[in-house]
Amino acid sequence: MSPMSLFSERLSESDRSCSNIYGSRFASEHMPCNSFPEDEMPKEVAYRMIKDDLVLDGNPMLNLASFVTTYMEDEAEKLIAESANKNVIDHEEYPKSVEIEQRCLNILADLFHTPQINGKATAVGTACIGSSEAIMLGVLAMKKRWQNERKAQGKDASRPNIIMSTGVQVCWEKAARYFDIEEKLVPCTETRFVIDPVEAVNLVDENTIGIAAILGTTYTGQYEDVKLINDLLIEKGLDTPIHVDAASGGFVAPFVNPDLTWDFQLQNVVSINVSGHKYGLVYPGIGWALWRSIDYLPRELIFNINYLGADQLNFTLNFSKPASHIIAQYYQMIRLGRRGYTDIMMNLTHTADYLADQLKNQGFIIMSDGSGDGLPVVAFRLGSAQHIVFDEFALSHKLRERGWIVPAYTMAADCEKMSMMRVVVREEFSQSRCDCLVNDIQFALQALAEQEILNIQRYHK
Ligand SMILES: Cc1ncc(COP(=O)(O)O)c(C=O)c1O
Repeated sequence: MSPMSLFSERLSESDRSCSNIYGSRFASEHMPCNSFPEDEMPKEVAYRMIKDDLVLDGNPMLNLASFVTTYMEDEAEKLIAESANKNVIDHEEYPKSVEIEQRCLNILADLFHTPQINGKATAVGTACIGSSEAIMLGVLAMKKRWQNERKAQGKDASRPNIIMSTGVQVCWEKAARYFDIEEKLVPCTETRFVIDPVEAVNLVDENTIGIAAILGTTYTGQYEDVKLINDLLIEKGLDTPIHVDAASGGFVAPFVNPDLTWDFQLQNVVSINVSGHKYGLVYPGIGWALWRSIDYLPRELIFNINYLGADQLNFTLNFSKPASHIIAQYYQMIRLGRRGYTDIMMNLTHTADYLADQLKNQGFIIMSDGSGDGLPVVAFRLGSAQHIVFDEFALSHKLRERGWIVPAYTMAADCEKMSMMRVVVREEFSQSRCDCLVNDIQFALQALAEQEILNIQRYHK
């Protein structure tokens, strides 16, 4: 028998019993990438092959680039796994999950000071797949409301615009482009990375559907001054709607900075989005969209569907939606309560301030606001006193060698020449992990500087 036929015989043997995964034929074949494989594969093999493939992903715990939750308690994970097969759109089938979605909305409406009717906050909103979907819905509602008003007045409604800073997250640009709305941009500058409220309000015209204000920008985590925008509008007698993008800040500011006025307490704030999967402390994807009242959610955006067994209202972009993450959000809300969220967000703020101090001592320029005036995020760039020839991208790359993912990126349009780095402080980024990062940044700086000296010496030979 030739060695090759021996090999095939051995492989078909091992296909039958897959107790020896790495001795099976699957271990010596390419994974299916382009077409449906003809045959089945034992479940243990499929599991192991995919798990092994995923090892090449970064470690989520060391991914300091992301705002998205990377830790949940075992009990929360258990609830997610146990409800993974429920589609919350089936109201008739899963009434409890639907009720839990409403409970979460009630809690958020209360947290965001929705105006009360008969002593109760009236929650008008929906769970979404994330803040992007919630923002799309908020923008659509503002556009429809503006169009309806214009048409009722017999005026042209074909050229809507929206006002926002150049520091918005990309989903705002998507919303404007997808829904044919002109973007009126308030530029960031080299010293101001948030919207200028005066400039924003000056841009308002009869075609403005609304102003976007961000509670915690993606670049620096800073809070835009929603109150000043609101007050300036009122001063000018304008009822221009404000949508607050509280993707991250919605679960931080109420606990760290409860006196900050940014939500439905402000007259012109008509809608708010918040990501449950960021500081809401739930795994991706869950977001929330809330309106001040039903008056701000035009009827034509609400669909009444009844083919799943009961009449149900629906105003999302996607139809199906997992119940699991809504349930996980409710778990976090009742498990932690205000006290738990406050303790966690205060700790994160403290860690962010500590990290900012350490980086300042190393000569970096800190671009984010500390002491709870912004998100627990540290945005920084190399300082001229560091006398360094390499840039933030080189440092980010060097840190990757130690497993850290600390992104380097360029600032928003109009100050895109400025590069910077950002650490999003999340729940499991403890003080001691923070110390490890600070040390590794110090080592990386030294290693890069030594490399530079070697390069210079080489060129001078
Ligand atoms: C300010 C802001 N808005 C919107 C988004 C989009 O959120 P999501 O990823 O939940 O769709 C982000 C994401 O980082 C963000 O930082």
